[in-house]
Amino acid sequence: MLMNTNETTGQPVSRTLFRKDLEYLTPNPGAEMLRYGWKKPDILSLGQGEGCRPTPDFIVEAAYEAKRAGKTFYAPVLGFPEVRQELSAYYRTIYGLDISPDRLFLTGSGTTAMNLALTSLLDAGDEIIAVTPIWKNLLSAVEVARASVQQVSLDLKEGQWSLDLDKLFGAVTPRTRALLIVTPSNPTGWMITPEEIQEILAFARHRGLWVISDEVYGRIVYDRTHAPSFLEYAQPEDRLYVINSFSKTYAMTGWRLGWLVGPACAEPIIRDIALYHNMGPASFIQLAGAAALRQGEDFLQEQVALWRRNRDRLTVFFREHPQLDSPDIPATFYAFFRHREKPDCVAFGRELIDKVSLSLAPGIAFGKSSGGFTRLCFACSESKLEKALERLQQVI
Ligand SMILES: Cc1ncc(COP(=O)(O)O)c(C=O)c1O
Repeated sequence: MLMNTNETTGQPVSRTLFRKDLEYLTPNPGAEMLRYGWKKPDILSLGQGEGCRPTPDFIVEAAYEAKRAGKTFYAPVLGFPEVRQELSAYYRTIYGLDISPDRLFLTGSGTTAMNLALTSLLDAGDEIIAVTPIWKNLLSAVEVARASVQQVSLDLKEGQWSLDLDKLFGAVTPRTRALLIVTPSNPTGWMITPEEIQEILAFARHRGLWVISDEVYGRIVYDRTHAPSFLEYAQPEDRLYVINSFSKTYAMTGWRLGWLVGPACAEPIIRDIALYHNMGPASFIQLAGAAALRQGEDFLQEQVALWRRNRDRLTVFFREHPQLDSPDIPATFYAFFRHREKPDCVAFGRELIDKVSLSLAPGIAFGKSSGGFTRLCFACSESKLEKALERLQQVI
């Protein structure tokens, strides 16, 4: 029987008190490592996936203004029509795409968008094929939805992650309902190519599968304006869900606002599920999100410029330390590296905390194939990154 601990009291909690199939909910090694680190007063954490900068003023002001203007009542469950229009305009401006607002559903975070998508598709016993390494919460969201996950790992060849489509397609079984892909990927920074997107869409159409693409890091890219999106190659009626969020792009992790793109036929289904889930995202936060979409480009580009400098600094650091193996990072703000002589990432993570008070995320949290890796989030100031690298250097 799995036991969890109560975060406040530290007392063990038996899972048998609760829904039986929650037994499948596996412990989260990333969260456990963070908790282990918090015990140290001088901890420096690059273990969590968010930037250091607060939400920019123009977004905060938009939220105040919306509250003062009375946007404090219930809103339409899938978002105010004007905010859905704003999202549609965003796709036109940034991606050159025409996506009608009836395919754009505002949600109370990217996580909520994923949960709504999964709830709309999965029956108990269904299966999802997930490309790993992947953000652990997405695997657990499938488990909460009473389905199971088959993990198909990216390959690492000559310092680059790559997706073997034959391996992905070969993993499909009669129980498979959807393919789940995070691109750009947390934690690897891998980005799918337009050709791979087209092959996956063709395969999914042929086999009657859904594709769920998490594109939360789609704007955090270093050599273009956006990563390739499934939306650029799909037909409006394809069985495709795209998950997105304001969290990373606009420094809004604490606001809890995201969106889901689906075929128009999904609108009433998602509306019903969202209605019973939490009746949609907060009214004034939606308006803050609209301001982010309208005016957020300069802020985003400033952030990306800082993260690019950090990424380049890390590239030099890894080159100087050949005992660390770090694939290229074309996107996201994560370095996913391994220590050639320390293959146990949990032991390595604890060693970093114990010896130099540096908290990073253990690779095993991102799938069963990535136990040798460690994730470092470099969405921080240059000085904080420098301090972290000094500490890391002492242990490696
Ligand atoms: C791939 C991925 N999807 C979704 C999320 C969550 O986004 P949100 O803060 O909107 O729930 C994260 C957060 O780390 C993520 O890495």
